[in-house]
Amino acid sequence: MSDITFDGRVAIVTGAGGGLGRSYATELARRGARVVVNDLGGSVDGTGAGHRAADVVVEEIRAGGGEAVPNYHSVSNPEGGEAVVATAIDEFGTVDIVVNNAGILRDRSFANMGLDELHGVLDTHLKGGFYVSMPAFKVMKDKGYGRFVHTSSNSGLFGNFGQANYGAAKMGLVGLSNVLAIEGAKYGIASNVIAPVARTRMTEQLLGPLAEMVDPAQVMPMVVYLCSEQNQFNHEIFTAGGGRYGRIFIGTNEGWFAGSRVVPTVEEVAANLETIRDVSSYEIPSSSNDELMIIARLLGG
Ligand code: NAI
Repeated sequence: MSDITFDGRVAIVTGAGGGLGRSYATELARRGARVVVNDLGGSVDGTGAGHRAADVVVEEIRAGGGEAVPNYHSVSNPEGGEAVVATAIDEFGTVDIVVNNAGILRDRSFANMGLDELHGVLDTHLKGGFYVSMPAFKVMKDKGYGRFVHTSSNSGLFGNFGQANYGAAKMGLVGLSNVLAIEGAKYGIASNVIAPVARTRMTEQLLGPLAEMVDPAQVMPMVVYLCSEQNQFNHEIFTAGGGRYGRIFIGTNEGWFAGSRVVPTVEEVAANLETIRDVSSYEIPSSSNDELMIIARLLGG
């Protein structure tokens, strides 16, 4: 494959003042993209703010000969999201790529979770994804080109103790990406999801001995590929961490067909649970319509 470059492209990476976002932003810039380095500059739980995180990454990019500007707005409110996209347009004239990466943690077991933990996490990850994507999508739709990468997590995709807020937000981003993928396809817009695993300030206490082995730089090539013109995928979820790259998917199995216009008894459903749950054969629908087609097929429609 020819070299993947981003000459003439403008990228927004949210939460790019450290960790994974820094790794994406510096590589996109190294490959020719002009980059908005957004970061609120707060702590892992989302409190506080400062310019230093974004400034350091912008300086690093400029020192390497790349082009970047900082943006210090929070993505967790509509004005902040608008301001991030406005920075791209004011400084570089457009936006081609959005990596929704900004994030915080407020872990608490569900029984003890307070509203502050719920709202703070949903506002940053899930609503933040909307607040940046909404103005960016309009620009991309008009120009007929765009790339979104939204950041999910195995905590949402598979579940993790103490992270009901975070897991729901991260799964919500999959829903956002799936619909953007469908609505954007005819405008040359692709939307995909990354579920990363990497040692950052967010995870260094959580990963145990694995921490040493999972560098954020190892997640970067997957994300940078998804941001590229060469990217052929839309509506997908990828996992990357510690040198492993893979696909995560939501599929549906063949299931058990009770028959057309038949209302089975509860006992009949119970008797067929093995077939209902059997995943030896499955499909990966690319829209809700695809699942309706499976039902229609069985009904002979
Ligand atoms: P990190 O804490 O180094 O990076 C997150 C960045 O987002 C920070 O620089 C922070 O200042 C910024 N940020 C937080 N709230 C913001 C807001 N409202 N507006 C703008 N910027 C804000 O952590 P890491 O690990 O690099 O996280 C990046 C993303 O990857 C997050 O969405 C995280 O949830 C996700 N993730 C990370 C995993 C990992 O193993 N490191 C695993 C799964 C998901």
